[in-house]
Amino acid sequence: MPLGLKKRDFLLIGIAILILAFLLQAPPESTSRVPFDDDHKQYYDIVKKQGKKAAEKFCEECHNPDTVPFPEGHPAKYRCLFCHKMQPS
Ligand code: HEC
Ligand code: HEC
Repeated sequence: MPLGLKKRDFLLIGIAILILAFLLQAPPESTSRVPFDDDHKQYYDIVKKQGKKAAEKFCEECHNPDTVPFPEGHPAKYRCLFCHKMQPS
């Protein structure tokens, strides 16, 4: 085998490619951005200082079926900021 790769290594590479393909197909550029308004302004600061994961914890305080419902057929809800980008500053 060239480079000493084993069958198992090719399997792992294949799995890695599949995961990458899955992640890359997710964020189409058309996904609406997080508004820069009074509801969302504070999260721009949190993202900058503590990262996206820290900010996302708060999204569902409002974005839930009772307060601000998601549009019908909304994809998986975790990791909001993976798909919804912040406004360019
Ligand atoms: C205090 C309540 C509140 C919190 C917390 C909140 N949102 Fe919102 N969000 C709203 C409301 C109300 C709207 C609809 C009105 C508007 O566009 O501002 C909205 C709209 C949106 C929209 C749609 C904008 C558009 O173009 O239609 C996105 C995307 C969004 N929020 C993402 C987020 C994300 C991501 C977080 C967490 C970082 C978050 N929101 C946290 C209240 C909130
Ligand atoms: C896998 C990608 C993905 C994730 C993760 C995701 N969304 Fe969305 N979201 C979309 C798409 C696609 C739409 C429909 C197109 C659009 O309006 O942006 C949408 C629409 C919305 C809308 C309505 C926007 C409008 O214009 O009316 C809101 C609000 C929203 N998402 C908030 C959130 C919040 C809050 C989270 C995290 C709890 C989240 N989304 C996670 C992809 C995603």
